[in-house]
Amino acid sequence: MESLKDKIIIGRLPEHIAVIMDGNGRWAKQQGKMRVFGHQHGIQAVRDTAEACAELGVKYLTLYAFSTENWNRSSFEVDALMTLLANALRDELKTLNDNNIRLNAIGDLKRLPKPQYDSLMFAIDNTKNNNRMTLTLCLSYSGRWEITKMVRDIATQVKEGKINPNDVDEALITNHLATAGMPDPDILVRTSGEERISNYLLWQIAYSELYFTKKYWPDFGKEDLYEAIINYQNRERRFGKTSEQIKK
Ligand code: FPP
Repeated sequence: MESLKDKIIIGRLPEHIAVIMDGNGRWAKQQGKMRVFGHQHGIQAVRDTAEACAELGVKYLTLYAFSTENWNRSSFEVDALMTLLANALRDELKTLNDNNIRLNAIGDLKRLPKPQYDSLMFAIDNTKNNNRMTLTLCLSYSGRWEITKMVRDIATQVKEGKINPNDVDEALITNHLATAGMPDPDILVRTSGEERISNYLLWQIAYSELYFTKKYWPDFGKEDLYEAIINYQNRERRFGKTSEQIKK
């Protein structure tokens, strides 16, 4: 079968892909099933996307798995998502290591139930020497949470005399975010037809290309990822410059 993969220019791959995995609930509802059914099927889309990225040579994949606001969902749904997280960490650790993928997590992780927190820390430590790709799960994460924490951290260090207020610049801010050390996403993919940022990586996506697809997350597969990358490769990224300046 012909694959869109052949149309991807490997020399111009996005280094960092960020994803808002949306539409699990609607996918389930469409089939008369409970929302949780959609989340369960979302795991396969996570696997496919991670595998496709690693195979291509994408260095960073960052997934919005659970937002700060998601804590406000019914306890039934929150519990189900936490169970899925625990199961995924248990079942996928070997695959991560076999594929040389480093697991990372950002967010207010201390809010996670202790078993999930402990499994997460174990998996992060256990994969820390892998270097083919970094898979970051955003858990109990929101962009405003992250920015608030960054301001608090910098303010504390200013108060302690460790940082001079005049030294606060973009690089210092970047280094105090949860994503310190990672390049900004080149492309942000959101599934399900919604065209919003929803409090995701607010600082980091300043120059990211935005890509929206109508597919619900459980239906998102490798070919959909390839399509997103090809779309990205057909865009001209100007970073505030003119088209003529870019082509020089
Ligand atoms: C959005 O769909 C999806 C989520 C809130 C969770 C994403 C989780 C997974 C893909 C499973 C993996 C989870 C973990 C924790 C590893 P939605 O529920 O907002 O769908 P809707 O917009 O159709 O209601």
